[in-house]
Amino acid sequence: MDNPIFSAAWLQHPEKTNEAPVEFLFAFTSQKAVKSAALQATALGVYAATLNGGKVGGEVLAPGWTNYRKRLQYQTYDVTELLTAGENLLSIEVGVGWRMHAREKDWTQPTLGGKETALLAALSIEYSDGTSEVFTTGESWRCRLSKTRYSDIYNGEFYDAGFEDNLVLPAKVLDYPKEILIPLQGERIVETERLAVKSMFTTPQGELVLDFGQVLTGYVEFRIEGAAGKKGTLRHAEILDAAGNFYTTNLRKAKQEIDFVCDGGAHVYKPKFTFQGFRYVQPKDWPCEVKPEDFTAIVVHSEMRRTGRFECSEPMLNQLFSNVVWGMRGNFLDVPTDCPQRDERLGWTGDAQVFCRTASYLYDCERFFSKWLADLASEQFANGGVPHVIPRMHWDGDSSTGWADAAVICPWEIYKTFGAQKLLLRQFDSMKAWVDYMAARSQDGLWLGGGHFGDWLNLDGDSATPKPVLQNAFFAYSTGILVKAGEVLGISMEEYQAQLRQTKEAFVREFIEDGKLACNTQTACVLALHFDLVQGGLRESVAVQLASLIRECGHLKTGFLGAGYLLHALSENGLAPLAYDLLLRREYPSWLYPVTMGATTIWERWDGLRPDGTFQDAGMNSFNHYAYGAVADWMIGVMAGIQTDEANPGFRHIVFAPQPDARLDYAKAEIDTRHGLVKAGWHKSDAGFVYEFTVPQGCTAEARLEGRVLALGPGAHTLTIGD
Ligand code: BGC
Repeated sequence: MDNPIFSAAWLQHPEKTNEAPVEFLFAFTSQKAVKSAALQATALGVYAATLNGGKVGGEVLAPGWTNYRKRLQYQTYDVTELLTAGENLLSIEVGVGWRMHAREKDWTQPTLGGKETALLAALSIEYSDGTSEVFTTGESWRCRLSKTRYSDIYNGEFYDAGFEDNLVLPAKVLDYPKEILIPLQGERIVETERLAVKSMFTTPQGELVLDFGQVLTGYVEFRIEGAAGKKGTLRHAEILDAAGNFYTTNLRKAKQEIDFVCDGGAHVYKPKFTFQGFRYVQPKDWPCEVKPEDFTAIVVHSEMRRTGRFECSEPMLNQLFSNVVWGMRGNFLDVPTDCPQRDERLGWTGDAQVFCRTASYLYDCERFFSKWLADLASEQFANGGVPHVIPRMHWDGDSSTGWADAAVICPWEIYKTFGAQKLLLRQFDSMKAWVDYMAARSQDGLWLGGGHFGDWLNLDGDSATPKPVLQNAFFAYSTGILVKAGEVLGISMEEYQAQLRQTKEAFVREFIEDGKLACNTQTACVLALHFDLVQGGLRESVAVQLASLIRECGHLKTGFLGAGYLLHALSENGLAPLAYDLLLRREYPSWLYPVTMGATTIWERWDGLRPDGTFQDAGMNSFNHYAYGAVADWMIGVMAGIQTDEANPGFRHIVFAPQPDARLDYAKAEIDTRHGLVKAGWHKSDAGFVYEFTVPQGCTAEARLEGRVLALGPGAHTLTIGD
């Protein structure tokens, strides 16, 4: 049978609606006994459907965010239970959602403005007598303006309970492509948790503020009651300023406000077409008494199975780990975003690349990345270049080192954690195109030129690690991954192996002087070591260089490109105690410094909130940016010691390689893999460290402990290495 949604017609409101959400209505009669009924729907914008007043589907913010020019997901819902015998009313509201990013010139239909919305839907009913009926969006549908008078992702929503658009008009059919339709490829976006108010207080400026105790992404459900026409506004903020006042300057142009206009009655309301990044809310001009129990924060993100957990004897590290998890929850809302609060919230490739391995340990995110990587490939330029953000923005340029490499690094990390060979195969051309892009611009293995973000937000200064050092390090790293991916897929990679050798030689030739990295920064050393660009004696001397750079100042100085690999570069080169020094440090700059300042998520900058209580530049100061949270993969992989094996991905064979430290009493982690629960940990005893590992049935493992390698079979193991 033909797929019904492809016979449906795109519908719009017949008049210019100034981007106001529109409600499409379809009334129909179903007389016979119903066996099953399914609704397929999608929108240019975001939509929410009800059938006879009952919510259709468990998701929110459908159809999600993809490269709308080429790929638009539709959802299919079982609506059998919502259907009634006789008269039925289907209502589907559509708001602009992420489509507000679009600009006319970007769209396949030059006549359709970026923010205009449209609906496409098909309702298929199978009757018990064997007959069936399909209702598709078309001229018989009607529409009116929604009570939600305004909505957008950044600014919030304006809802008027008293508004009733009496002008119900026939919907207008729109000529718009349907070849772009794809069934849901990512995860559903769902409400995952509800948080009660932790405390209520009045700020020095006299504003009443509610604190949910946790920075999160989602929205607030509230109970409200007031005289008709009275408006209350709910404002959202991540943090309070030094004086304890509500602080929203770091949101830049994003208003993050929910306006509710009362109609005299009591309502329980939550937004439909927007989300906020917040911990605090301020009910402003509230028309009724503000009672904490009337406000509930609802956490919203992609539906993924939680897999990774970590715990150790240092509570501050446990809080750090929790902050990483919340950072992921806050930024995995259909697209891996940099941040969820300010006027940005974009699928920055660099951030995603840095955090991908950690993400794959914390949640089962194969499907999530699989969809996003399909968007990445679809956005890639003909020359192999990769936009900075996926889905691409109209302003986007292309191809910064460490950002564009997401094309190669992400599929490989997902492959290692989940054994996703099909994904690797599907992405291979995209991976290769990016490596070819770099190769085409290189000479004798050296790639120069181009525009790059550099080691973003590092503490050495913008160009301390010169762009050529960074771009050639990533050139070699991505080429190396491509070679391994090709080998997995049975593709001859000789040409790329030769290219890799040449790039590594060029790196040493150009950037090493007297056995050291000439630019003398932590990030340069970290990349040279972790990307295996230096061998033998040279590796040793670069490791010494890194160690002395750290010891000289006593702390990390790495930015986005170095931070995630910093501890690995140390522990891979016999410097685990120094890695622990950095991890356990509490003063600025360090991973624990934000924890000492009360952080509940990962900050964009090492000093988002300074020790004296003042803020970093509000122009770029998010308190929910997961990039530096990449440290959690070291906590799971090296502290507790659970690692993948490239040759047997998906934890079919597990490498246990913990590097314990006597400053802690214990550390342990677990990952609920596709093959079962993998556990690793250790604790201190008089006789030395006692290690415990669990290997699921059907898997094998090896423990690399204090210089020895032991083969382990399925089951639980307790080991001591001593005499
Ligand atoms: C984003 C980053 C991103 C960067 C590019 C910022 O505005 O928030 O996380 O990677 O731009 O340099």
